[in-house]
Formats: sequence, C-alpha cells, structure tokens
Amino acid sequence: MQKFKFTMSVTIAPSLLSANFLRLEDDITMVNQSDADWLHLDVMDGVFVPNISLGFPMIQQLAQIMTKPLDVHLMVVEPQKFIPFFQALGVRSLSVHYEACTHLHRVVTEIKGAGMKACVVLNPHTPVELLTDILEDTDMVLIMSVNPGFGGQKFIPHTQDKIRRLKEMIVARNLKTLIEVDGGVNLERGKLLVEAGADVLVAGNFIFNADNPIELIRRMKQEI
Ligand code: DX5
Ligand code: ZN
Repeated sequence: MQKFKFTMSVTIAPSLLSANFLRLEDDITMVNQSDADWLHLDVMDGVFVPNISLGFPMIQQLAQIMTKPLDVHLMVVEPQKFIPFFQALGVRSLSVHYEACTHLHRVVTEIKGAGMKACVVLNPHTPVELLTDILEDTDMVLIMSVNPGFGGQKFIPHTQDKIRRLKEMIVARNLKTLIEVDGGVNLERGKLLVEAGADVLVAGNFIFNADNPIELIRRMKQEI
C-alpha cells in the first residue's frame, strides 16, 4: 500500500564502528554515495566504556574522505578536553554523555560556542526527566538503547518509552530539540522508534552487515 508522509523523512546515521576496519575507505565511500544523512563516529577511551575504538590520528585522516556531516559520539571521561579537536575537524554535532559531565551546562555551552550542535547522551538507566534543566540548551538528545561500548547488541525495550516521554517534554515546551536513538536499530524497530518520537536513527551492524548496504539505507529512508 502506498504510504503518504507529511513529515520529513527520518535522518539516518550509519555507525562506522561496524564497518570493516581493513577496508575503511571502501565503507566510507559507500556511506558517501548512499542516501545516509550523517556519518556516526563512536569515540571510546577504555575508561568510560570498556572498549577503545578509533584513535585521533586515524580519525583525522578518515575525516578527509568523509563527505557526510559527522555526528560524533564521545564515550569518554572529561569530553570537554576534546572540543577543540572536533571543532577543527568541522564536525556537525558533538555528543557528550550526561553521566560523564559534572558541569554539563558548561560543556554544552562550549560545544555550541565552538560552532557545533550540542547533543547530550543518556545511558539506558538514566531517566529523561533529569534533562529538565538542560533541555532548552540542547540541540539533540541521544537515547542509548544498548549499553554503550559495542556494536551488535540487543535493543533494550524500555528505552522506547524514554523516547515517548522525552518527546512529550520537548513538545510541551515547544522546543526544536532532536531525538536520536543508538543501539540495536533495524528497519522494523526503526519504524516503532520514529512513531515514539525519534528524529535520527543510528545503525551499525544492521547496515554494514547487509548484503547491499546502499539499498538498505535507501529502504530505511523511504519506509521509515
Ligand atoms: C555503541 C555505539 C553505537 C553502535 C551501534 O556504543 O554507540 O553507535 O555502533 O551499533 P549497532 O547498531 O550495531 O547496535
Ligand atoms: Zn554511538
């Protein structure tokens, strides 16, 4: 059945964490040529999360061949230290964890002052209501639907209700804050998440393990 949509299509951000690291250039070219809106880059320090992903020298070189806006997800302690690095790379949005920032308002203000969109990330156990006094200053909220650190994990169901509650807070206050979801996203779940209020979907394994990632991204854009 033909589906008529009156809203803008969902924003799709493939997560490079699930790419083939032996063929990163090929996978980045695939994303560049696809209908994906952003490229999601996961940065880990082995302290905030029990894993380490891409180091800065590598990110600097990879950024030279990425043509999609970069959506950087910092899973590190003291993320404010790295604002100048990502500012110099020209990233679109910089996401910092609520759980990693003692002075969150200061960090968000610095990110915006550096010309990037400021995004606050919530781990699965952190209630959206804790954002009451920062929401107005935040361009985007990233709801983690898995515990951060690894790709290919199972979606945690209650996080969908957090999206619904956060959307209500945003609408009630007439804000333009976007909601992004990260972890265990696929086509079917993506539809439910957008119904709940999500604007941006991150997907790693689902996209990079597909036989035809370009076609899959096209379907996500059209069908969700
Ligand atoms: C997990 C990362 C995610 C991850 C998502 O800590 O933040 O971006 O790559 O991977 P999937 O979509 O495979 O769950
Ligand atoms: Zn991520």
